[in-house]
Amino acid sequence: MTAEWKLNCPAPDFGTIADGVFNMGPVLMDDQMHTTEQDAKMQIVSGVNRQDFERYVQTVLAAGGSKTFENNNQLDSFWGFTLNGTSFQASFRSVKRELRVCEDPLVTPMDAFNYSVQGSRQTVLYQYGLYFDPDNRCTDKTMNCGMMYIVRLSDNGLFLIDSGHLYQWNQQAFDALWSFLHEITDTPENEKLRIAGWYFTHAHNDHTDGCGCLLNRYHDKITVERIFHGFCSYQVHPNGYELESQDTKRLLLKYFPDAMQLRVHTGQRIRLADVEIEVLYAHEDAVSADAPEELPLRDFNSTSSIIRVHIGKKSVIFLGDATAETERVVSGLSVPELWKADAVQVGHHCINYLELLYSWIGAPMALMPNSYYGCHTEQNLRNLSCVLKHLKNDQIYYEGSGTYGFADVDGQLQPIAEVPLTGGPYDGYFD
Ligand SMILES: [Fe+2]
Repeated sequence: MTAEWKLNCPAPDFGTIADGVFNMGPVLMDDQMHTTEQDAKMQIVSGVNRQDFERYVQTVLAAGGSKTFENNNQLDSFWGFTLNGTSFQASFRSVKRELRVCEDPLVTPMDAFNYSVQGSRQTVLYQYGLYFDPDNRCTDKTMNCGMMYIVRLSDNGLFLIDSGHLYQWNQQAFDALWSFLHEITDTPENEKLRIAGWYFTHAHNDHTDGCGCLLNRYHDKITVERIFHGFCSYQVHPNGYELESQDTKRLLLKYFPDAMQLRVHTGQRIRLADVEIEVLYAHEDAVSADAPEELPLRDFNSTSSIIRVHIGKKSVIFLGDATAETERVVSGLSVPELWKADAVQVGHHCINYLELLYSWIGAPMALMPNSYYGCHTEQNLRNLSCVLKHLKNDQIYYEGSGTYGFADVDGQLQPIAEVPLTGGPYDGYFD
């Protein structure tokens, strides 16, 4: 039986509407105590074919909807629109024969979020070096996880991915980061650092703390233009949600209330200057039409979004802290050909065994958000082996060894810069 349509866009007149609305939570509002007016919602319609989907697009246009993006691949179609001032995305997922519609209140429409310029600088992706516990332990001063990636865009803006754990930012490490960001963008000390976009894979503090540190110390010396992530709703999945991530969101909203906000959904293509970011997976992909209000993910790391970043003609997939659960969802929706990349960020600091994802991606280069030591422990060696299998010329770079910069040089993704690691055990600098 078809259920009631509850989103503020036209109801589909085909297929079977699943009974229930999935809550994807807000972008920056605090949903620790209750749901918010920014919470994104999704409804699922089953038994849908491509003609139904195309007809739905026409229905939305006839109702006054305005297209914000479109992305089609061999399997699926993704179509963004605004209607009465609210952003939506309609996705046709052919393997499951489903239409999924997401409503995103109080976010920037995709066509306004994106900006496209071709600046004069070479675009460089840096895997930023972080300090890891030398014994692969978590102590009250050290960590065995955390990651941060920095893209210096061709217009000299910064695109940041995650930001490391608090314990990776002692004074020396933090001062080095501050200098590094100025140096790669040629920003004089008396000018504000321009962060064109800051993306977070998921709500764990080894990915969000560093942002809070930067805002606490230097919010008046930076600008943050865009913030995006696919965090799940705290109200839907509190188990494993680290509340420090809510603190980081609170600071972003406090200091940059006018920054553009976007919730990532699979199929989006985000453009920052000359760099394109494709969203390959978001946590709501795991939701089933049988139980549309539930997030059937046991491990919070499975809520990590996955993106593919195009730098020049080369691409890098960022798996965040993807898990075997993520693999199961992805393999039930997609095909290997849609997952190729020239480099892969190893998922979950090499703690997880992701044989399927690495073989789908088939990347000849690996970016490892962990130390050499941490990946060569007895329990992680097996995970590492399925990364190494695909590499050419042993191209693996460890975040715990230092900062490495990569660019598309003559059609090859190549290391072009290396900076020794700065930092050590946490010294209470941000307490
Ligand atoms: Fe992590």
